[in-house]
Amino acid sequence: MISRLWAKFSKSSPRPAAQPQSGNVPKHVAVIMDGNGRWAKDRGLPRIAGHHSGMKAVKRITMAADRLGVEYLTLYAFSTENWKRPKDEVDFLMKLPQQFLEIEIDDLMEKNVQVRVMGHREDLPSFTIKALDEAMSKTANNTGLVLTFALNYGSRKEMLEAIKEIAADVQEGRLTCDQIDDHVMSSHLLTRDLPDPDLLIRTSGELRLSNFMLWQLAYSEMWFTDVYWPEFSETHFEEAVQEYQRRARRYGGL
Ligand code: FPP
Repeated sequence: MISRLWAKFSKSSPRPAAQPQSGNVPKHVAVIMDGNGRWAKDRGLPRIAGHHSGMKAVKRITMAADRLGVEYLTLYAFSTENWKRPKDEVDFLMKLPQQFLEIEIDDLMEKNVQVRVMGHREDLPSFTIKALDEAMSKTANNTGLVLTFALNYGSRKEMLEAIKEIAADVQEGRLTCDQIDDHVMSSHLLTRDLPDPDLLIRTSGELRLSNFMLWQLAYSEMWFTDVYWPEFSETHFEEAVQEYQRRARRYGGL
């Protein structure tokens, strides 16, 4: 839907992992793709080389998620805070969706992947919006994996806007305060068409959420790895899913 807004370098080579069980695959996996810059630095390359390599990992993990039967994959591609980066890096990051979609749209169509975007459209360059809108409309009827790019996304901004909308509903008599519950809040978020993530993956050794899906991740399982995003492989993804399958989710119960 086009809405209002719309490793540590791992020296070890990926280990062959046992395949995850076919049942109990996380329905929704969200990923904080981190470590592109450090991956590049370790190789004496400019940061943008890390982002370019990160784009290849996006394809790899999309295909892995599809193969395993994940239904929703949400990738944190650019935060509302990332505008603070040097202009040339921001410019490069803004071109990546267009570049990615030009190269990959046929494969995404073939795999029946539906592309979506969540974030605030207003500050994005017109060519970025155009490329994403085209991909969203081209893949709108696909019924396979839902691939959502969180672009110019920030969870606090998302929640504040939801709260303002709910407050307006109360002020104008469409809703009473007593009626405000989890469902009402969720239905005002950019993720209103997505289930909450079952599994959050963050690469690069950082152990924080960085303003990503703070409401939606309340009961998600978290999996962190030191591996930098450009090196994140299908095997790493399978390891994360296997670990998820070993965990008992209790949602606050026993
Ligand atoms: C964080 O690593 C990564 C980003 C801010 C950008 C992520 C973007 C991609 C992986 C490519 C996206 C591709 C598409 C198709 C949209 P960092 O730069 O903060 O790394 P560092 O912490 O090592 O400096």
